[in-house]
Amino acid sequence: MHPAFQSSIADDAIPITFASKSTWETVSATLPATARQFAAANAFTAKPGQYLALPSDAGSLAHVVFGIEDTASDWRDPFRPGQLPGLLPAGLYHFANAPHDLRLATLAFALGSYRFSRYRTSDAPGAKLVPPEDVDMAEITRMAEAATLARDLINTPANDMGPDELEQAARQLASAFGASFTSIVGGELLEQNFPLIHAVGMASSRAPRLIDIGWGNVAHPKVTLVGKGVCFDTGGLDLKPSSGMLIMKKDMGGAANVLALAQMIMSAKLKVRLRVLIPAVENSVAGNAFRPLDIFPSRKGLNVEIGNTDAEGRLVLADALALADEDTPDLLIDLGTLTGAARVALGPDLPPFYTNDDALASDVARHAQAENDPLWRLPLWKPYDSWLDSKTANLNNAPGGAFAGSITCALFLKRFVEHAKSWLHVDIYGWTPSAKPARPEGGECQAARAIYKLLSERYGRS
Ligand code: BES
Ligand code: MN
Ligand code: ZN
Repeated sequence: MHPAFQSSIADDAIPITFASKSTWETVSATLPATARQFAAANAFTAKPGQYLALPSDAGSLAHVVFGIEDTASDWRDPFRPGQLPGLLPAGLYHFANAPHDLRLATLAFALGSYRFSRYRTSDAPGAKLVPPEDVDMAEITRMAEAATLARDLINTPANDMGPDELEQAARQLASAFGASFTSIVGGELLEQNFPLIHAVGMASSRAPRLIDIGWGNVAHPKVTLVGKGVCFDTGGLDLKPSSGMLIMKKDMGGAANVLALAQMIMSAKLKVRLRVLIPAVENSVAGNAFRPLDIFPSRKGLNVEIGNTDAEGRLVLADALALADEDTPDLLIDLGTLTGAARVALGPDLPPFYTNDDALASDVARHAQAENDPLWRLPLWKPYDSWLDSKTANLNNAPGGAFAGSITCALFLKRFVEHAKSWLHVDIYGWTPSAKPARPEGGECQAARAIYKLLSERYGRS
């Protein structure tokens, strides 16, 4: 079980009671008179997120009350209870009543317990929750551990998370589940025809590579995941300003999230033939860096003119998608922190997704909603496709205008996908800029849980 949970043997767990502004009166009536007076003296009204620890007559911590949204309110945060691990003193707790969604509240408790502790282990031991009855704790643990993997990989600074370290993390995951593992490194990328991955990564002293994991029964439907693994994005010669570069250690967020997704798929033994491809590079500045208006061939054969060296994610994904597409997967999914434009349109918490498969789109939207892993469909708007035209090559990686940047990026990637039976692209942010319930500031697991549930529904477990 996940470390945020612990079964109670002695029945001594402290109760947490959820209340909202409209239920508080009824709930407080069930409390001992002194506790009710204590709550009133503290002006506790069960506003969403409001927290109060009630003492016993002897002065010990007897009971916790926590405010959630009213049932009738137009929006209820199912992750609201994810604030609790940050509020509660160490100890063992149990939910005395059910919040709006017991399963998501339990998951939120685990997600909200996350701390990035690699460089700083001083945090006190946290609060633990007794697993609520009728919640599938194996599934909660699987999801919470996947989120931890994604967050740890993203939060690890680039000096300790280069292409090689990302490869080690992928190798470790593969070996834990008996998956096959290969990596094509440095000059070998040119020999095996991955010109764009090489072009983006060659300026770094840390060699670029293409990671390839294979798992599952070859007779099962073929699902291929591709994740953008730019371990640091300086922008290249089209250098980012320092404000734009600050959090670019997160630019391998697509890779981190496909690894998290792969971990859930393999641990649940979904009936799929899984392939995971990660182009892992560092977009650096050096004398041998690729330049604006350079033209490179690509694995697919299309010549690509470099309009902007900062549009590197779509370049490395292009070669990886072309490889993925060669063996006609039933479902091809790529995740990447590709554009600032996606954030301008939808903000950091709501990644856009793209597909021409309407049935897939409605499944993605449904699971995103059900898992509180929000995703929003944007169109592969054909009329903008010509914006990718180049006067000197087959296409340009960065159209001149500033319009519809996330859409044109998706259209660029689409040029490299031809045979896959169905394709889904998600332009994630991979980062929580300021803490929200169950979402501590820093690296974030995005899209992986929604897609995992979609795959479990479609393909089932063996
Ligand atoms: N990694 C960035 C995208 C990004 C920027 C994600 C900021 C989240 C926050 C990507 O490589 C990039 O730099 N994209 C450019 C594309 C442009 C040059 C066409 C962008 O969005 O500005
Ligand atoms: Mn960039
Ligand atoms: Zn980038």
